[in-house]
Amino acid sequence: MKAIKLTEGIYWVGGIDWDLRNFHGYKTQRGSTYNAYLIVDEKITLIDTVKHYLYDEMLERISSVINPADIDYIISNHVEMDHSGGLPKIMKQAKNATLFTSPRGEAGLKQHYDYKNWQLEVIKPGVSLDLGRRSLDFILTPMVHWPDNMVTYLPEEKLLFSNDAFGQHYASPERFDDQVPLEIVLEEAKKYYANIVMPYGSQVQRVLENIEKMNLEIDIIAPSHGVIWRKNLAKIIELYKRWSSNQVKKEALIVYDTMWGSTEKIAYALLDFFAAKGIKATIKNLKVNHISDIIPCVLDAQYICVGSPTLNNNMLPTVASFLTYLKGLSSGGRKAIAFGSYGWSGQSVGQIAGMLEEAKFNVIDQIKLQYVPRKEAIKDIKDRLEEVVN
Ligand code: FEO
Repeated sequence: MKAIKLTEGIYWVGGIDWDLRNFHGYKTQRGSTYNAYLIVDEKITLIDTVKHYLYDEMLERISSVINPADIDYIISNHVEMDHSGGLPKIMKQAKNATLFTSPRGEAGLKQHYDYKNWQLEVIKPGVSLDLGRRSLDFILTPMVHWPDNMVTYLPEEKLLFSNDAFGQHYASPERFDDQVPLEIVLEEAKKYYANIVMPYGSQVQRVLENIEKMNLEIDIIAPSHGVIWRKNLAKIIELYKRWSSNQVKKEALIVYDTMWGSTEKIAYALLDFFAAKGIKATIKNLKVNHISDIIPCVLDAQYICVGSPTLNNNMLPTVASFLTYLKGLSSGGRKAIAFGSYGWSGQSVGQIAGMLEEAKFNVIDQIKLQYVPRKEAIKDIKDRLEEVVN
């Protein structure tokens, strides 16, 4: 396995996780990559590593360019183990290497690994690291995705090593955005943003503003997952600006599960209602859609409708699971409707409304119908919604 050249003397030396299908609950149907980068300069530098089980792949790629023992500097942009998992072995292999990380990165790495023999230095934002012909600058990006996150900028090549930001869980033989279908990259970038970065929209906005203020010129964005952006940078930066601003479109998302088809009837009545109002609506049955595939639809939707029948005094577990996941990810602010059918106790709708409120949604209606909804009841729902949906 060989290194792939980005520009003269700079290489991708990461690992491709073709079989990955679950990334802490996120369904990664196209696998993923963990991107590490090698800079061959007077000081040979490795940016990030890979998950522990892809270490040998990374080492082989590094070895196709240099002797790994000759690495002088290792930059750890992020403690999470998909990027730091290769550190224990590479720190043994590159005996003279100094590891650079953020202040919180230092604390995090020390809680993950046996670091006693590591030469570890904490970077200072605003202070460049001289590599010889090139240099590296560091920008702290806390909460994009963990408190320790930082990005590394190489001004001589206008190259930003952005770590989790701008990533996609996407395994492919190609390494650059202009070598793969753009619609797939953007779909995976959106799914990644929604499932990983969405709770931190305000932090993303701050980072984007800071980068603009610093007048950083960027020709290449090299993230830690997926393909490298060298053609569609303006597009992905514009999308990150929009996604992080929490702006919504005139769209509705209806998410539900059903026992005997009654809650499904309400779900389709809602779909019909929104369509008649000219509001683009998407419906997702939790029996057949994975929660991480639904979350990207939340990004754009002005209205979120969540439905469940009542089973043993509770909502269905599939709906509870979705709401728990949504609560952790959502930056809230959208309008919401709770709905469901019931037999005799009917707690589910109130429970859904409560969880949506906890997730900072503005619950504008609760629709609760006993047993099988009749035509008249469906008409009543639509008439009632006219007053709260505009
Ligand atoms: Fe790809 Fe937050 O690690």
